[in-house]
Amino acid sequence: MNTNEIFINNSYINDTLIPTFLVGDNLSILSNIPSNSIDCCITSPPYWGQRNYANGGIGLESNPNDFISNILKVTSELRRVLKDKGSFWLNIGDTYKNKSMQAIPWRIAIRMIDEQGWILRNDVIWNKLKGAMDSSSDKLRNIHEMIFHFVKNKDYFYDDMAIRQNPQTTIVRNGAIVSSSGVCGVRYKRQIEMSTALTPEEKENAIKDLQQVLHRVEIGEIPDFRMIIRNQQRATHSDSEKVSGRAKELKEKGYYFLLYSQNGALPSDVWDILPEDTQKRVSHYAVYPEDLCKIPILATCPIGGVVLDPFCGSGTTNKVAYDLQRKSIGIDISQDYIDIAQKRISQMQLNFV
Ligand SMILES: C[S@@+](CC[C@H](N)C(=O)[O-])C[C@H]1O[C@@H](n2cnc3c(N)ncnc32)[C@H](O)[C@@H]1O
Repeated sequence: MNTNEIFINNSYINDTLIPTFLVGDNLSILSNIPSNSIDCCITSPPYWGQRNYANGGIGLESNPNDFISNILKVTSELRRVLKDKGSFWLNIGDTYKNKSMQAIPWRIAIRMIDEQGWILRNDVIWNKLKGAMDSSSDKLRNIHEMIFHFVKNKDYFYDDMAIRQNPQTTIVRNGAIVSSSGVCGVRYKRQIEMSTALTPEEKENAIKDLQQVLHRVEIGEIPDFRMIIRNQQRATHSDSEKVSGRAKELKEKGYYFLLYSQNGALPSDVWDILPEDTQKRVSHYAVYPEDLCKIPILATCPIGGVVLDPFCGSGTTNKVAYDLQRKSIGIDISQDYIDIAQKRISQMQLNFV
C-alpha cells in the first residue's frame, strides 16, 4: 500500500479491523500519519548491537548513544501521532558492553521524560521466568526486561475495569456476613475500646463509622476493608501531613478506613510471562508473547480505537489488537517480516470462517 494513502481527509483508510501493514523505515512512514490520530502504541525495538535483522534498521549502530538517539527520533514522532489521551508502551531490553550493562532502557526513558515531555506511569518488569543461555559465572542470570508505560498528559484514557483481576465478594461465616478476607469488625471494636490513644469522643465516632462500613460490607457495597487506628496498626501512608491526606485524617480523627474495590485488584507492575518459544521460527527471532500486549490494549485503547506498532516484526501487537477488536497499523523495515505478519492475520481470518 502506498503510505501516502493511509489517511484520506484525516480518516483511517482501512476502517475495518484488518491491520494495515506498511513496509519501510518507520521514521519516514510515521511522517505520513497525522498528529493526534493513534490511541495506543505498543512496540519492542531491536536490542542495541545484538541482532542482525534482515534489511538493517535500528539496532546496528556502532555505539549505544547513536542507538538511543535513533530511538528518541522515533519516540518524538510517536508523541506527535498519539492522541492527547493516548498511551505508549515501550518494551526494551538492555545490552552488555565490556562487561557493563549499558542501562539503555533507563537512558531512553529519562531522556523521553526530560527532553520530550512524556509522563512515565509505570516501569513494568517483564519476568520471563527463564532466561537465554548464559555462560557467565560472575553475575546473576538476566531474566527480565522493562516495559515502560508513557502518556502525553495526566488526563489519559485508562479502562481499569477491563483489566481488574479476581473480583471479591463477601462471605458467610457462622451465619454472619463477613468481608472477603473474613474481617467482621470484632478485633477493631476491641482495639478502639481498649485504646489509650483515642479520646472518648474519637472512640465513639470510630465505633459509629466502623458500624457503617460493616453495613456496607453486609449489603455487598464493598467486599473488604481495613481500619487504621492511631497507635494500633502500621500506617500505610507517609507520616507527613503535608504529603498524605491519610496522615492528616489519622491525626485529626484518630482513624481511617481503606476500602477495597468490588471489581478486583489491578494487576501489579511485575508480569510473569514466558517468552515465545523461538526455536521453531525460521526467519524472526525476537517475537514477543501475545500476553504482553493484552493489558496495554485492554486498558489504554478504547474498543474500535487504533493501535500502532512501529517495529511490528511478525505482527504480534496487530494480532492481539485484531483479537481484541481494535484497528491497528504495523510498520517494519523488512518485507519478509511483514509477509509473516500478514500471513498470521490471514490465518486468523480463515479460522473465523
Ligand atoms: C524486536 S523486533 C519486533 C518483534 C515484534 N514485537 C514481534 O512480536 O514480532 C524489532 C523489529 O524492528 C524492525 N526494525 C528495525 N529498524 C526499523 C526501522 N527503522 N523501521 C521499521 N522497522 C524497523 C526489525 O526489522 C524487527 O522486525
